[in-house]
Amino acid sequence: MERWSPSSWRNLPIEQTPVYRDQAALADVERQLAGFPPLVFAGEARNLKRHLADVAAGKAFLLQGGDCAESFSEHSADNIRDFFRVFLQMAVVLTYAAASPVVKVGRIAGQFAKPRSAPLEKQGDVELPSYRGDIINDLAFTPKAREPDPQRQLLAYRQSAATLNLIRAFAAGGFANLENVHRWMLGFIKSSPQSERYQKLADQITETLSFMRAIGLDPEHHPELRGTDFYTSHEALLLCYEQALTRVDSTTGDYYATSGHMLWVGDRTRHEDGAHIEFVRGVKNPLGLKCGPSLKPDALLRLIDALDPENEPGRLTLICRFGADKIEDALPALVRPVMREGRNIVWSCDPMHGNTISAAGYKTRPFDRIMSEIRSFFAVHQAEGSYAGGIHLEMTGKDVTECTGGARAISESNLRDRYHTYCDPRLNAEQAIEVAFLVAELLKAERLARGLPEQHAAE
Ligand code: PEP
Ligand code: CO
Repeated sequence: MERWSPSSWRNLPIEQTPVYRDQAALADVERQLAGFPPLVFAGEARNLKRHLADVAAGKAFLLQGGDCAESFSEHSADNIRDFFRVFLQMAVVLTYAAASPVVKVGRIAGQFAKPRSAPLEKQGDVELPSYRGDIINDLAFTPKAREPDPQRQLLAYRQSAATLNLIRAFAAGGFANLENVHRWMLGFIKSSPQSERYQKLADQITETLSFMRAIGLDPEHHPELRGTDFYTSHEALLLCYEQALTRVDSTTGDYYATSGHMLWVGDRTRHEDGAHIEFVRGVKNPLGLKCGPSLKPDALLRLIDALDPENEPGRLTLICRFGADKIEDALPALVRPVMREGRNIVWSCDPMHGNTISAAGYKTRPFDRIMSEIRSFFAVHQAEGSYAGGIHLEMTGKDVTECTGGARAISESNLRDRYHTYCDPRLNAEQAIEVAFLVAELLKAERLARGLPEQHAAE
């Protein structure tokens, strides 16, 4: 393979990239970004990789989720808090059910750039460049708004820094206290139309926490119960931005992307000889690779060789997004060769991107299809003897109406009520927590099938 440098992607074919008219302005922005402090520290990316290595070994579970696209206009403390609160509740439910640690990774503090299915969007007789995410252009349908503007990269950097700052404060400053999270979860159950289904698991968690408190394992005396580890991730799509934030780690001499802890390559840009794969192969962060229906097994093996030549556990997460109707055929065809080659991979399920449909003039995703893909994901891994290691969701902490179904049975005619997404439809707070409870049932069944005790005591 050719020598890698932070700019070696520039010699290769690239997809889904904006055309900036003012190249001098772009170069100036890149220079500024290259002088800014990193958003994350290489040691944190290494910690995440170690946690993901536990997932690869079947000893932990990955929860990754957040907005499809973060936006400038919805940047507020309330949105971040509500997202984090829902995410932590999901993590507690999953931790209990899996009886193992849950690795928490947000699609947040950097998830701004979007691949689009068409370069142009037509409304009536007018055709304009597609919206590509707030880091590139603006959603408004005017020629000026849709023109890629390099200054937006500076705004995205500053927003990411502010978001990450608040998340770090929440994670370490007492907000993530286990007993708080448990209280929020009980509030959710009380108001859910499906409360009976979730009550038993919630009661078990309540009992466990009372027992822990009784023997002195309480948040007042145990700092680990007052805080949590939380990591950031986004699609490595806008490579000029990623390059500008790539730095040599002084302790190891290795390159790290410092725009987020984990980067992934999308299903539309994962070409073996393309710029995106070239860029990410040279940074040492944990990586994700989206795997959709068009990915052939031999191409996947070559991509794994390129991204993870040393078969390093935790380096690579395959994020599968086939669609509920395709996964049972497509997934075994990828799992078998990867297992045969002895690859230390994390298998994660993105049940969102293969299940998008149009209804009542909106892009939506039916909750039942989302759950159906997750169930098939677990079933395939159980049949193949591999480990269903995680889920990857598009979700928000708000009460939006973007995905149909769920306990409150959002209908197609409800979609217009609170359809706020800038890009793909997200699970709302209740739907996201429901997914966690339903996945908890699958995790428990899997644990029993693997012959593990109800709660494992030792490694
Ligand atoms: C996404 O995760 O928002 C996305 C565009 O996914 P995919 O690359 O799987 O289509
Ligand atoms: Co999306």
